[in-house]
Amino acid sequence: MNRPPVIRPRRLRRTPALRRLAAETRLHPAELILPAFVREGIDEPRPISSMPGTVQHTIDSLRRAAAEAAEAGVGGIMLFGVPEQRDARGSAADDPDGILNLATRAVVEEAGDALVVQTDLCLDEFTDHGHCGVLDPDGDGGIDNDASLERYRSMTLAQAAAGSAVLGLSGMMDGQVAAVREALDEAGYEETAILGYSAKYASAFYGPFREAVDSQLQGDRRSYQQDPANRREGVREAELDLAEGADVLMVKPAMSYLDVLADVAAFSPVPVWAYQVSGEAAMIEAAAANGWIDRRRAIEESVLGIKRAGADAVLSYFAVELAGWIR
Ligand code: PBG
Repeated sequence: MNRPPVIRPRRLRRTPALRRLAAETRLHPAELILPAFVREGIDEPRPISSMPGTVQHTIDSLRRAAAEAAEAGVGGIMLFGVPEQRDARGSAADDPDGILNLATRAVVEEAGDALVVQTDLCLDEFTDHGHCGVLDPDGDGGIDNDASLERYRSMTLAQAAAGSAVLGLSGMMDGQVAAVREALDEAGYEETAILGYSAKYASAFYGPFREAVDSQLQGDRRSYQQDPANRREGVREAELDLAEGADVLMVKPAMSYLDVLADVAAFSPVPVWAYQVSGEAAMIEAAAANGWIDRRRAIEESVLGIKRAGADAVLSYFAVELAGWIR
């Protein structure tokens, strides 16, 4: 007969108390960030069919959602605007009275002491072609990197003036962190922080987000967002953002890029966040709605996995609900 095992890892799994004490990773509401959408020109919040539980807010309903998130102990909110009018240069993005900037002022007033108010700094919600930058003048549909940086500088000033504490740079233009840092510092906004969407992949998992912002996108974003095949490139993008002055690095999406997240977390001297994007949430919702998985367990496990891989904080559409469970 075989000798019975001497080393028995199951000893620490025996009771709930042992498992709780032995847990290496823990979830806390303060490290969750709620992404939220605000739409111009509507009187009632509108549901987003591919994102159950998430809506396009009015400014008033957004205020209430921010207050609710603060109440739940959530650490921050990331705001996205859906304007009524779009044009080629995304003029509503840097208009002080543009929907995102108005909403930012409102949320800062409502909950700015309890919640870190952050804004998406990208043109795609504001352009009629749906790209994250302005198009090349030659008409070939390419994106003009450096002309886009000029637009980002202007958005930067509008968002900082509106009171955003953290600018989320999701456009994936080269040099965007340096350009935004310079614009902030020149205008006296030394205290406004930059979240670099450092490793942002051209992902199918942004699908429901397109509905959430009524995206007009023609074509795809593969000439500026990263190729899902590349891991080293994600680390390089993170190093560049750090060198350009990013205060926080981010990896996005989260669940299909945990290797990149772990790599970035291993070297980063600044916080590393990850974004559980719309399609990741949609997969959980759809499977749960079919009775194929346990919704609550799947949400907890997915966010725990993102943390375990190295995220210091997680953007998640489940932030408020999850905060309620883990409190
Ligand atoms: C760009 C942006 C996108 C998301 C966040 N910022 C869309 C894109 O890059 O195509 C997607 C987030 C999600 O899917 O939840 N402004």
